[in-house]
Amino acid sequence: IRYIDDMQLTGKRVFIRVDFNVPLEGRRVTDDTRIREALPTIRRALEMGGKVILASHLGRPKGPDPKLSLEPAASKLAELLGAKHEVILADDCVGDGVKKQVRELKDAQVLVLENLRFHKEEEANDEAFARELAALADVYINDAFGTAHRAHASTAGMVPFVKEKGAGLLMRKEIEYLGGVLKNPQKPFVAILGGSKVSDKIKVIESLLPKVDALLIGGAMAYTFLKAQGIEVGKSRVEGDKLSLATKILEAAERLKTSIVLPVDHVVANEPTEQGVKRETPDRAIPADQMGLDIGPKTRAQFNQHIRNAKTVIWNGPMGLFEVAQFAEGTRTVAESMANNRTAVTVIGGGDSAAAVQQMGYGAKMSHVSTGGGASLEFLEGRELPGIKALETK
Ligand code: 3PG
Repeated sequence: IRYIDDMQLTGKRVFIRVDFNVPLEGRRVTDDTRIREALPTIRRALEMGGKVILASHLGRPKGPDPKLSLEPAASKLAELLGAKHEVILADDCVGDGVKKQVRELKDAQVLVLENLRFHKEEEANDEAFARELAALADVYINDAFGTAHRAHASTAGMVPFVKEKGAGLLMRKEIEYLGGVLKNPQKPFVAILGGSKVSDKIKVIESLLPKVDALLIGGAMAYTFLKAQGIEVGKSRVEGDKLSLATKILEAAERLKTSIVLPVDHVVANEPTEQGVKRETPDRAIPADQMGLDIGPKTRAQFNQHIRNAKTVIWNGPMGLFEVAQFAEGTRTVAESMANNRTAVTVIGGGDSAAAVQQMGYGAKMSHVSTGGGASLEFLEGRELPGIKALETK
């Protein structure tokens, strides 16, 4: 893969696929991490004298939808880039109007194309649409790691139709950290997985199990593992059809001599809300009328110990229902333990855990917080991502 630094951009039309699929509340961007993380590439392209065109999707519209306009993202970008640069929002991503705007684009201006998914051809990876996008560009740069698992017109289809192609700086950082964890992690290597479902993480578990020294499991998926071991889990969320799979994973870990560390105590309540009456269990069992909602204090201490001694730590998936303050302590302490281990490579594998880490203010203390959700998971599963594959040069 070529990276933007090794390219010649002066005077060229540089089409940068970014992932500005950010959370919105009305017209307000509630988490601008993805926009901030795209800044180094955007700034570099501008400094290198390129005419910068940005393209992204936002949400999953079924056609043009003013509520999913990229306008809030473009405004946020303008604010972050500062007064030296003008950000122009096009009213479409293809067509004569856009072509004209590209022709008239001046140095230091940035043209943001409107939501790619206003055209169904984007997700269908339609060739005519891909060619239209490609016609806007001399150089194609993909910096949208978060969308790299999609084989869409803007991430894959258009690439062969542009003269030059390469990856941006965010893409490079993501590949270096997530790839580094998979390829040559410093030992001890500890992975922490959480979230609600074993089924979402099964391929990640299979990919990491032979590589890690310990796999710590929290979140609701832990209850499926505990139940598979015959432990009482009360009203906790369990995937009844994944019990034998959980048993197989535990057996595989034993064969590989990898320790899977499950919670030894829990924070439970009668209901999963702020009003729920919170209690801690003395051991692994959960009373019949209670549901597990977070890892307990002994488990937090054990997890902390593993994280403290590690040289590489990767984490994906919250330890409990962290959106509800009284069930957030497990997720917070894992974030804190990772932040405190300054000698390890610490990587947050995206999605909810990345949001939690940012929200709790530990983002800057990690080696890397992935901007991907599904993309990070698929990367960690060891799969080839179409958006990365399209950039490979033979
Ligand atoms: C994401 O947020 O995971 C990416 O932007 C991809 O979005 P999608 O799941 O709608 O394709």
